[in-house]
Amino acid sequence: MAVAPGRRGPAALAWAALFLTAALAVDRGNFKTCEQSGFCRRQRSLKPGSSPYRALLESLQLGPDSATLQLINEENKVPLLLELWGLRGNMTRIRIDELKPLRPRFRVPDVLVAEPPAEQLAVTGRDEGSVELALGAGGHRLLVTAKPFRLDLLRGRELLCSVNARGLLLFEHLRPRRRPFSDKVSSSVGSLWDKIKSLFHRETPAEPPAAAAEDEEEERQGAAEAGGEGAKAAGAPADGSMQPEAAAPAAEGEAAEEPGAWEETFKTHTDSKPHGPASVGLDFSLPGFEHVYGIPEHAESLRLRTTEAGDPYRLYNLDVFQYELYNPMALYGSVPLLLAHSARRTLGLFWLNAAETWVDIGSNTAGKGGGETPQTDVRWMSESGIIDAFLLLGPTPGAVAAQYASLTGTQALPPLFALGYHQSRWNYNDEEDVAAVERGFDEHDIPCDVIWLDIEHADGKRYFTWDPSKFPQPRAMLQRLAAKKRKMVSIVDPHIKVDSGYRVHNEIRSRGFYVKTKDGSDYEGWCWPGSAGYPDFTDPAMRAWWAGMFAYEQYEGSAENLFTWNDMNEPSVFSGPEVTMQKDAVHHGGWEHRDLHNLYGFYVQMATAQGQVQRSGGRERPFVLSRAFFAGSQRYGAVWTGDNAAEWEHLKISIAMCLSMGLAGLSFCGADVGGFFKNPDAELLVRWYQAGAYQPFFRAHAHLDTVRREPWLFGEENTALIRAAVRQRYALLPFWYTAFYRSHRHGQPVMRPLWMEFPDDVATFAIDDQYMIDRALLVHPVTEQGARGVQVYLPGEGEVWYDVASRQKHHAPQTLYVPVTMSSVPVYQRGGTVVPRQERARRSAECMRGDPFTLYVALSPQGTAEGDLFLDDGRTFDFQTHNRFLHRRFTFASGALTARAADPSGAFDTPAWLERVVILGAGKPAAVVLQPAAGPETRLDFQHDAETSVLTLRKPGVLMADDWSILLR
Ligand code: NOJ
Repeated sequence: MAVAPGRRGPAALAWAALFLTAALAVDRGNFKTCEQSGFCRRQRSLKPGSSPYRALLESLQLGPDSATLQLINEENKVPLLLELWGLRGNMTRIRIDELKPLRPRFRVPDVLVAEPPAEQLAVTGRDEGSVELALGAGGHRLLVTAKPFRLDLLRGRELLCSVNARGLLLFEHLRPRRRPFSDKVSSSVGSLWDKIKSLFHRETPAEPPAAAAEDEEEERQGAAEAGGEGAKAAGAPADGSMQPEAAAPAAEGEAAEEPGAWEETFKTHTDSKPHGPASVGLDFSLPGFEHVYGIPEHAESLRLRTTEAGDPYRLYNLDVFQYELYNPMALYGSVPLLLAHSARRTLGLFWLNAAETWVDIGSNTAGKGGGETPQTDVRWMSESGIIDAFLLLGPTPGAVAAQYASLTGTQALPPLFALGYHQSRWNYNDEEDVAAVERGFDEHDIPCDVIWLDIEHADGKRYFTWDPSKFPQPRAMLQRLAAKKRKMVSIVDPHIKVDSGYRVHNEIRSRGFYVKTKDGSDYEGWCWPGSAGYPDFTDPAMRAWWAGMFAYEQYEGSAENLFTWNDMNEPSVFSGPEVTMQKDAVHHGGWEHRDLHNLYGFYVQMATAQGQVQRSGGRERPFVLSRAFFAGSQRYGAVWTGDNAAEWEHLKISIAMCLSMGLAGLSFCGADVGGFFKNPDAELLVRWYQAGAYQPFFRAHAHLDTVRREPWLFGEENTALIRAAVRQRYALLPFWYTAFYRSHRHGQPVMRPLWMEFPDDVATFAIDDQYMIDRALLVHPVTEQGARGVQVYLPGEGEVWYDVASRQKHHAPQTLYVPVTMSSVPVYQRGGTVVPRQERARRSAECMRGDPFTLYVALSPQGTAEGDLFLDDGRTFDFQTHNRFLHRRFTFASGALTARAADPSGAFDTPAWLERVVILGAGKPAAVVLQPAAGPETRLDFQHDAETSVLTLRKPGVLMADDWSILLR
């Protein structure tokens, strides 16, 4: 959150009183609209249907795995290079850069896990105006139309996507700044003198390539303006690239010269823009699609809306104070991945650009009545960099998730404790406070895995230190927690107090690791500690140094059970434009902050996670929560939705926001339970616990100025309700952990929209008040104040669902009215699944290791079911480095439940055994027999409830590691 400096102290109370009573509202004036963002305005002013780009078909070259082709802007004659790939696994990559940029343009590093393998392309058709390419084995074809330039991606006769069909490709080429005439005269005199000098002084050093290129470009532009022979000569590329024809006035150039192109002022901040306009934009048309999703982070419904009437969705990592709901403003993180879904197929568009980006969504059907074939148009606009777009061709939602994961990686498998409950607030005041809170959980019999410390724990907001009076014995405190099998998380923000007495600052400064201003000095901004430097996390050497800071001897007072929270890493700069860093700040390699802004937080989390791995000699899995994120952040830990509020609407939108993040690969998502700002009443708090217990990252957190709200402070009745919700979470930990394992292996979101599981059920496409966890549980949390009931949609033609609480069976599809009380959390298990649980209430996840399991077998109408269980030590990489794991599969068919290895390559010693099997939807058997893999058959005790058709088998007693069958006779 962004708070003006100096707000703590006496003024804080007045401010707190104000925000605690007033309705929350973002100060929109602090953040740019598209109109106020020069490049967005320029891009958006280009209207459809007038593309100046022509593809030079004769320039087509086929490489071993890609094709290249030049595009020419017929107005300014600047050539672009288009590269096309048919990637393995049903993806197409389209990259556009300038053929000869004045200086290299930024290409996003470190996000793709590897250079994606491509398939051979072949030319399958050609005429005067177009070329057709076959893209590998998937049966996809690309039709390149020359004039105006357009790409159509087809499968058979079906058009999947068109690129630049609306003619909105706009690539602002790099150019030298036009200097006033007097400057030009003196500089040309100067350069003449330089040439004469060089005739006599051969040792005159050569100009740096960029400067030389600038001159060349300036000459070209001057010539283009003047027209005539000179223009042609200047435009002739030395490398034999296709020749532009007659030069015309630089129309795009002119647009780019509008006020703001070379310098832009917003409020009191001026962005110097030393490299001038450099934005890129392109449109994608998606015929047959009416529903699009993704591009987090926005406080928006799951299904995205059209943006024609207002601002585009903005992707620019920002610390937005008191964000508003249901609008396209940017928030803390950005993933430029958009998904389109119809009953026929799912597609993904991944726009790999880390600069400020806006996304316009248009539809030919929204509010215009039916009739036409639906189509969604998506237009991406980024301030700098290149166009690097991936079309993920599905065709199923699961395939798109796998395709995206193959590019950017999968969710890191969290340590098991991290899936438990986290207790946080800004702040737990001192060691005594921590001890009392922790005791509270034991006294009230509520499981809890982690206590969190916010910024006040550090000595004067100097991260990696402890306030000596409040936290004098951090190690002893951590040991006390460890003795209870609990953990702690401390906050480590990326703004470093400028203080010559602070070792961390001194080291970063002396090593030259701070981000620099455009003038080369260390960049300083104002944040929690006052004046602060911002380490340049884009520098690998800086990241290595930072990672080293998590070594136990460097981070004094830390221990194995201390983990990390990276906050404010957009980065938040209270004194900066839009509460972030100046875009003309300079990073490693000379790149401007503008080029890579959205990557900063990604790198902070990466370096921190690396540090945690390193401190354990590479053995232990890290846990790092980050507020800012980008594509690929899933590889480094968890994210949350930032500074929400104790309001029912915020509770509701936490579902849509986490679903959207899950679609973009970030499975480990949660929202502050209870709401960060303001004080929840007991009803809202209880409902939030109930909802949070069924979201991937389950942490209560609250603002410094809120009233204390530990779970036992709202009376016995509410404590009991919260206890029940948290216990439900813990009972399902094996299920969550297994889902995360599969997400880690295959890239499917853990918390997912219904349409991912029921892709052809149109009724699910706009639902975001209920969702699936993995493929087995459907959750519809109560998010209405005073609710007496909820409408639950149970999808799936011919399927059945079982109410987890009442075990009652329901047929689908149907919308069910479910009466609710304060203890109700509507959850349904899908017929045909097996869900493992551990039902003994314990203090923490680690305390449950080795506990017995219960299997909930929910039969399909055909009397079948299937599910799995992943088990390992819950903390190390041994599952992947030494195959120390169990992945078991449970299958029910023909009256028999069998347990076998889902992955026989793993082995793991565990005393855990099966204490119960609950079969939902079963008739009464005459006998139940257990057949262990070795040893004699035994009969099992069972109980059958005829009313609910629930069959409970008692104490099979087999080990979870063993193979066995249970036969109903
Ligand atoms: C902003 C974070 O979003 C919030 O969760 C935290 O409590 C404050 N910063 C203070 O660190």
